[in-house]
Amino acid sequence: LLFSVPGGFWCMSVHILNEQPVHVIPGSKLVLTARIEKDLREEISTITWTREPETGYDRTKVTLATCPAKNPKCSGGKPDVQVSLKQQEATLEMNGYSTEDRGEYSVTVTDRSGANTTGRCIVRDYEAVHHVSVSINVSYSLLVCREAWGTDPSFSWLHERAAVTQQVGKVSKDGHMLIVTMTPLCGHFTCMV
Ligand SMILES: *[C@@H]1O[C@H](CO)[C@@H](O)[C@H](O)[C@H]1NC(C)=O
Repeated sequence: LLFSVPGGFWCMSVHILNEQPVHVIPGSKLVLTARIEKDLREEISTITWTREPETGYDRTKVTLATCPAKNPKCSGGKPDVQVSLKQQEATLEMNGYSTEDRGEYSVTVTDRSGANTTGRCIVRDYEAVHHVSVSINVSYSLLVCREAWGTDPSFSWLHERAAVTQQVGKVSKDGHMLIVTMTPLCGHFTCMV
């Protein structure tokens, strides 16, 4: 294989830097940043951003933008998509993200010899907090807080509308549980998600 690639232009690679999966609030802006690693001898010729459904039978690829590297800024196939290339960083910006925009995003970098490399990332809707419930485990003096399907919920606890103190109890590492140490276990407890 080495012989079939004169010059040995192997080293070009691209990966998307956003923490994955990327969660986007519908209506807000999606920004993806990709870092291109390459040999000095390699010259980027085009950058293409595409999207395809993450799951399902119909995995039709949609081209969001194809841009020559010479253009520092270039608009995509969609009016609300802008892509740019600054040194080794390629950026895709999409205004007014909507649910139809979720999926697997790819950025493909092609060099002058036609060799290409692709970086991928999953983009999903940010789901608001849903259906919070609190239950009590009397025998172990535990209050347990649950949330149904929100994205990355974080939990905190109040007692009589103030943050719980050591006199009241201890919150578990993941925040789901309040281990109540005060006796008797009574008062007004709140779980905030
Ligand atoms: C109460 O908590 C203990 C300890 O975590 C657990 O083993 C038990 O099943 C819980 N009881 C109920 C009714 O959830």
